[in-house]
Amino acid sequence: MSKNDEMAAGLFEAALSVQQNAHAPYSNFKVGAAVLADDGEIYIGCNVENAAYPEGLCAEAGAIAMMVANGAHTIKQICIVGGGGKAEDDLVTPCGGCRQKIREFAMAETPVFICGPQGLRASFSLDELLPHSFGPDNLENNK
Ligand code: THU
Repeated sequence: MSKNDEMAAGLFEAALSVQQNAHAPYSNFKVGAAVLADDGEIYIGCNVENAAYPEGLCAEAGAIAMMVANGAHTIKQICIVGGGGKAEDDLVTPCGGCRQKIREFAMAETPVFICGPQGLRASFSLDELLPHSFGPDNLENNK
């Protein structure tokens, strides 16, 4: 568990609410994500699956896209809500691709809050989920 910040007010509720809108007819595994950005706003996303399976999008990807589309570029916190199905005991931690997507706009200590329908289950720093990561700094140092 990360010893990071408390979750911002409204972040869990935003992720829980958008989870309901997930388009997940193939997995029946609905996920909601909410990002608190440096502009103080909360941006949301849900997973959007596709009949051509690899074209599906994760909830985190949608929330990050909404943040960037609105002109913000720093994730202060991110909350992910999953579960409510058969995999009740499993933590819905971000997939590898989403960890990297979060990395682009976050810092090592940025908290990632993992929730179920009842609330917070675990929190990790991004560095715990994606240690020794490759990020924008790596390219910066190459100039
Ligand atoms: N999924 C997410 O949206 N975020 C995660 O953190 C884990 C997995 C989605 C992808 C797919 O639509 C479904 O959950 C099952 O993998």
